[in-house]
Amino acid sequence: MNAKMNPQQIGGKRDSASTADALRGLFRTTFGGGDADVVVCAPGRVNLIGDHTDYNEGLVMPMTIDRGVYVCLAVRPGASVRLFSANFGERFDYVAADRPAPARASWPSYVVGAVEELRARGLISGGFDLLIFGDVPLGAGLSSSAALTVSVVFGLQTAFAFDLDPIDAIRLSRNVEHRYAGVQCGIMDPYCSRLGREGHALFLDCRSLEHEHVPIRFDHAGLSLVLVDSRVSRGLVDSKYGERREECRQVVRAIRAGGKSVQSLREVNPAWLEDEGIVLDDRLLRRGRFVVEENARVERARNAIRSEDNAAFGDLMNESHGGLRDLFDVSIPEVDTLVSTAQRTEGVLGARMTGGGFGGSVVCLVHTAAIERLRRAIETAYQEKHGRRPGVHVLRENLQTEVL
Ligand code: GLA
Repeated sequence: MNAKMNPQQIGGKRDSASTADALRGLFRTTFGGGDADVVVCAPGRVNLIGDHTDYNEGLVMPMTIDRGVYVCLAVRPGASVRLFSANFGERFDYVAADRPAPARASWPSYVVGAVEELRARGLISGGFDLLIFGDVPLGAGLSSSAALTVSVVFGLQTAFAFDLDPIDAIRLSRNVEHRYAGVQCGIMDPYCSRLGREGHALFLDCRSLEHEHVPIRFDHAGLSLVLVDSRVSRGLVDSKYGERREECRQVVRAIRAGGKSVQSLREVNPAWLEDEGIVLDDRLLRRGRFVVEENARVERARNAIRSEDNAAFGDLMNESHGGLRDLFDVSIPEVDTLVSTAQRTEGVLGARMTGGGFGGSVVCLVHTAAIERLRRAIETAYQEKHGRRPGVHVLRENLQTEVL
């Protein structure tokens, strides 16, 4: 029977060092004695603002969190690839030349997907042992799958010592989600996991793929970020994520049919949506408006964070949630209860859903002294209205992809 590890409760730097030590030991016993050559970790992310804009070539501003996915690796002679998930206590072994087909969106599908993409580019050959462990909660909208593919690619790059530009690595991670997990996601999550930095949010232009590390100094003002997991988990595959992407494409087509030459919603001027020559029904009009307005909010949010205007940033979070709920229709009653309760709680500057929606987590900016009040308010309201307990997590630090 293979040993299993349970995700820890705390997260953060100190935990990541001790988790890495525990995994080194588990690696030896799992694969029969040899040490791991490398241990790496890639974090999950919370999106501060700019949702459903990445696949519209728009702007996003996520930041990494204090939890991640760890990969321990040793290159071995021969052609045998041995994989072990310490979360599931499961092995998946195969021979390098074979093309295994693990179940879609299962943990081996992401690992094998990343391995096969690298092999197809001639970057790796031969066998290795790989142990994987993550403490990003699954289905909580915190990008556990991006952390997984990023950590596998980064771990293999470190162990096999090949050159791979980080942007290529990020694209490759996204392709794994498209091809092996069947999720047509955008670039934000692997980008943030791979290039996000400790102490910073990542402002990313998804058209030019240029980014800026924006220092986060909420603690200067006695503020904290709190993540609240609704514990309603709906994977992107079975949610209406793909439908929203298609609706955005329809808006672009309608604008083009109205005589404007645009490639994506990024280029759309808000006034055009009201233009008489452009035929959009109410639903498509709302989708288009949301994306255009959300892009503008991300710019304003970057400026607010840069100038430490936390009240302005909080307002933008609230507006963003309103748009996701009323215009883009990706929130759900459980998440709306959490957000509106947070927004009404004294000491909270702003709250919004984060990520793809249809469940998942909420992010709140709150005075540190009011965290317990927020926790009580949320737990009570959630229990009363939905009969369940949310997960409340104070984000005290954030990690970055690195060798441990
Ligand atoms: C998911 C996707 C991202 C992005 C968000 C919504 O997290 O993986 O690419 O589209 O939803 O902002």
